[in-house]
Amino acid sequence: MRTIVITGGTDGMGAALARHHLAAGDRVTVIGRSRAKFEALAAAAPSRAEFVAADLSLLADGRRVVDRLKRSHERIDALVLAASFVRQRRHETPEGHEASWALFFLSKYLFVTRLADLLHAADRPVIVNTAVPGARPDAIAFDDLEMVDGFTFKRSNAQQRRANELLGILATDRNPDLGYVTWGPARLVRSSFAGEVGAGMRVAAAVLGPLLGQHPEDAIRPIIDVIDAPIPGRAAYRGAKARPLTVGPHDEEDAARLAQAAEDALTKTRGV
Ligand SMILES: NC(=O)c1ccc[n+]([C@@H]2O[C@H](COP(=O)([O-])OP(=O)(O)OC[C@H]3O[C@@H](n4cnc5c(N)ncnc54)[C@H](OP(=O)(O)O)[C@@H]3O)[C@@H](O)[C@H]2O)c1
Repeated sequence: MRTIVITGGTDGMGAALARHHLAAGDRVTVIGRSRAKFEALAAAAPSRAEFVAADLSLLADGRRVVDRLKRSHERIDALVLAASFVRQRRHETPEGHEASWALFFLSKYLFVTRLADLLHAADRPVIVNTAVPGARPDAIAFDDLEMVDGFTFKRSNAQQRRANELLGILATDRNPDLGYVTWGPARLVRSSFAGEVGAGMRVAAAVLGPLLGQHPEDAIRPIIDVIDAPIPGRAAYRGAKARPLTVGPHDEEDAARLAQAAEDALTKTRGV
């Protein structure tokens, strides 16, 4: 029986994946905020489904989840990073971090690095990171990662996408057997669109989602294929289509700088 761990597994594409893998006979651990949503999807196979409630924009919660997974799991075959809460404006968490950077990068860094041993214990481990690949190599503001100055949704989004591509370098350097896929859907997916956004984006999601959006069950087919037949090394996909990895002039160095910054944030975070 495979073990699949899914952050953001209570709604949208994460929930669709959780339902699929429960139906396929896998053990599925869902991390999210709503136990009620989890119970609804786990009803079909409660003995193979597990829920860990967490606010992953808080590093303390991320650490608690990692500790729990280490205690309760012998290995992880697939780690799917799909927690999402879109903020159009800069927002600081009670720990003092910019919320999108914390949720979309620092928490993913924590999971990828601290769960490396559990992934290593699987025969064919894979990480599917739902960060849309293809951001520019220079999208990271190394001198102001939490964008105290000049935060815009566009800059913040591009930075976390680029950082998550570089996170694959760190992950696969440490474990060459690991598959690490940055994946984005081919087009809009009709999901919960969890977030705090302005009226324009809210109306666009409400109107365009049902009109043009792909159903989550359809959107995740390529992720299921990746998990069923993982290939070691880094890869990038939009939908089912492989995309070239974005290569910058100093990716290894940038990945190391990101790792150092994330370790500093983890060390310094209040209450962690
Ligand atoms: N939908 C699209 O068209 C689209 C396009 C490009 C990329 N993506 C990416 O695909 C992934 C999945 O997106 P989606 O639209 O399917 O998601 P979604 O329906 O908006 O669901 C978001 C999930 O994240 C969880 N979540 C939100 N904030 C959290 C927090 N602070 N801590 C822990 N969990 C939290 C939610 O949990 P609760 O429900 O329990 O609160 C929920 O399970 C995301 O990475 C997103 O960026 C989506």
